[in-house]
Amino acid sequence: MPADAIATDVAPQEIRLADYTPPPFLIDTVDLRFDLDEAATTVVASLSLRRNPAAPIDAALHLDGEALTLLRLARDGTPLTEADYHIVKSGLVIPDMPDACTLQIETRIAPADNSELSGLYVSGGNYFTQCEAQGFRRITYFPDRPDVMSRYTTTIISACPVMLSNGNPGPISDLGDHRRSVTWTDPHPKPCYLFALVAGDLVSVKDHFTTRSGRPVELGVYVRRGDEDRCAHAMHSLKTSMRWDEDVFGLEYDLDVFNIAAVSDFNMGAMENKGLNVFNTKYVLARPETATDTDYQGIETVIAHEYFHNWTGNRVTCRDWFQLSLKEGLTVYRDQEFSADQGSRSVKRIGDVRGLRAAQFREDAGPLAHPVQPASYMAIDNFYTATVYNKGAEVIRMMATIIGRPAFRRGMDLYFARHDNQAVTIDDFVQAMQDASGVDLQDFKLWYHQAGTPEISVEDSYDTATKRYTLTIRQTTKPTPGQPDKSPQVIPVAMGLLDGNGQQLTTSLQGDPEPVAGTRILLATQTENSFEFTDVASPPVPSLLRDFSAPVKLSGLTPDRLRFLAAHDSDPFVRWESGQQFAASVLLDMVAAIQAGREPVTDPALIEAMASILDQEAAFAAEALALPGEASLADKMAIVDVDAIHTARDAARAAIGQALSRPLRALYDKLTDSGGYTMDGAAIGRRSLRNACLSYLVAGGDAQAVPLAKAQFDAGGNMTDVLTALAILSGEDCLQRVQALDAFYQAWRGDPLVLDKWFAIQALSPLPATAQSVQELKNHPDFDLRNPNRIRALVSSFGANQVRFHDRSGAGYSLYADTIVQLDPTNSQVAARMVSPLGQWRRFDTARQTLMQAELQRILDLPGLSRNTFEMASKSIA
Ligand code: TRP
Ligand code: ZN
Repeated sequence: MPADAIATDVAPQEIRLADYTPPPFLIDTVDLRFDLDEAATTVVASLSLRRNPAAPIDAALHLDGEALTLLRLARDGTPLTEADYHIVKSGLVIPDMPDACTLQIETRIAPADNSELSGLYVSGGNYFTQCEAQGFRRITYFPDRPDVMSRYTTTIISACPVMLSNGNPGPISDLGDHRRSVTWTDPHPKPCYLFALVAGDLVSVKDHFTTRSGRPVELGVYVRRGDEDRCAHAMHSLKTSMRWDEDVFGLEYDLDVFNIAAVSDFNMGAMENKGLNVFNTKYVLARPETATDTDYQGIETVIAHEYFHNWTGNRVTCRDWFQLSLKEGLTVYRDQEFSADQGSRSVKRIGDVRGLRAAQFREDAGPLAHPVQPASYMAIDNFYTATVYNKGAEVIRMMATIIGRPAFRRGMDLYFARHDNQAVTIDDFVQAMQDASGVDLQDFKLWYHQAGTPEISVEDSYDTATKRYTLTIRQTTKPTPGQPDKSPQVIPVAMGLLDGNGQQLTTSLQGDPEPVAGTRILLATQTENSFEFTDVASPPVPSLLRDFSAPVKLSGLTPDRLRFLAAHDSDPFVRWESGQQFAASVLLDMVAAIQAGREPVTDPALIEAMASILDQEAAFAAEALALPGEASLADKMAIVDVDAIHTARDAARAAIGQALSRPLRALYDKLTDSGGYTMDGAAIGRRSLRNACLSYLVAGGDAQAVPLAKAQFDAGGNMTDVLTALAILSGEDCLQRVQALDAFYQAWRGDPLVLDKWFAIQALSPLPATAQSVQELKNHPDFDLRNPNRIRALVSSFGANQVRFHDRSGAGYSLYADTIVQLDPTNSQVAARMVSPLGQWRRFDTARQTLMQAELQRILDLPGLSRNTFEMASKSIA
């Protein structure tokens, strides 16, 4: 039974932001001693406590604890007896406390049995910790909340060659009997969720970095023996991130060492523990033969993200977990800006917006919708969401847009000057931005509290006589759970006007003396706002939401305007977006035709638009050639028709592939790597455009296309080309598919990260037998329910395979729910995070609704269901 198991007859309590009270006790120093053993590790914690002057005088001391065996408890050297304390369900209570004392707590834990991967656990024979959000209570009794910040020393005793923790290391002493000890000292106060320990037989790749004020920093990437040759990109990304944060935000690293340790069993992507980041191997290990361009970009982004947390999260941390977006939204914004500076800014933005819509807009439209700052939760692990991370980043981005980049930088400086070494709130951050800019941001803060995606529509008119142009922007937001009535938000709309030739006009706005030659920001603040432009020579076409200046849905532009903007706008985002919206309108017409029993016919205008993309800049062209995905088309339908969407999209892809087969083939040949493999933005763009061509050629059904894909697969070389060829083949019912999948397995069965790709590709295949093959792959000897990466590769990928997951038989739903049921007892965090696809039931036909609800109910009926999964399933079924 998971440690947080609950009886399903008593629903778990909601924790509320409104109930926050300061901690009764503060802890200045924490001294930890670990005597490592897989079955029985002893932890001795010495805490120097004092009463918090901001808390009531007589409060008892409550320490959180979970899955711990208490061996000894002493206060100021005197052992406490069971008369002095109570062990309760959530931990340990000491009623009578002096104003200050030292507590010594000795506990025993069992890292080898820790399948939750929270606290101290064993992976591949090595020790790792994960303490965010509430894992430290699985190591020792402690006030496990981020507003208790302490200075830590950590002594590790073991036979392990490598023993790492936070801060700077001391010398290693030999204790005899193969055991050694080392003490790490972290001079910076931190909350316990940033504690980390890593020990084992790991090897390291080392490098160094000198901060701009001259501090030498030793850098280490620790991996399993044999993986040393896959660390170069991670190390390079780390050094680039360190320099970028100095250049762009003036933020320097603050310890003598910075270490990264990679682990293959990990619940999330990576963790920003002070001076010792712990990473999922997926976000560290790469060489061209094993990692795709997307993997390389993921590593760069995640390395940057965790490094940037050193200031946004660690030096200034969160007062409580309702402030999670204070560190996550801001740090995602920072990693997005960093990655934009490393390659093509507009292509990066397009990718980020795609991801935002696929994950966050969908979340915001469903039963799990919540504000960027939630008001309550049952299990905080469930709130590491697209809303907190990605919408949170958009909210930061809008603030930067509204107050301007220079003021945003001043706001950041002020935030650090005011709050270094403090645990603070989102309000504190916004206040710093307001004070540094002089712009009133009080109304803007609604973005943190109101869930749901605002929908904006525009109406415009032009008066030939006065040369005036009026643009009216209306906004509404649909109700979300617990928030039936929505208020208008402050929405920055970056825009420009184009004349009939597609030239950008200088705009003059009534009430604003300054004409603007480029993009201007309109602030929509009410249900309806009108803007009057003067001296407009001819009827303009508005270009709106440039660079996606706000996380809103903009609809209602005519297909003609969309095509015009796609061809002419100066803003690459609007060009891409308009092309996608136009394609979506064509595809939805085809869906309607299918539903009416007619043949879907691809509008020649779409083929023409695609043809005109082929000669554009490669990375952008690859983005623009990709038709809107099945799930994003589904988002535009009142009742999703997965089969009609799939048929329509396939028909359009076939029509484009056929009509353009000659230029696509010519472009494919032209883009072939001549000078070998490189990893720069131009080469990545070239590969992705070339692979987009290959995909259309196969869709077009030309007899040469499948052999061409097989030849690309067989040529080997880099993983991007091999895997794209494999993915394309896996969608075709042909002999080459079987051959390629088999060859790939034989080549890579010993490499877990690459084998994950083999599982994922099969789970994502559009072929009708996919549910069946996923069921079989769950019994494959290489499938492992203890490894989150493998579960995500097979089962979560399948959950994203719209047409097969939603098979009308219900087979997809039931194998998916089976996995949650099997996983919940051993890893409730990961099990809970898998529930959301089943929560989309309201959007489907009644037959599918019934099937999906039944699976949710089956999960809820599970005896001993975890609090995490209970929260997700109960909110999803409601
Ligand atoms: N703070 C981590 C980040 O950078 C997220 C994270 C890592 C996490 N491991 C976790 C969150 C375990 C919850 C549980 O975004
Ligand atoms: Zn983060």
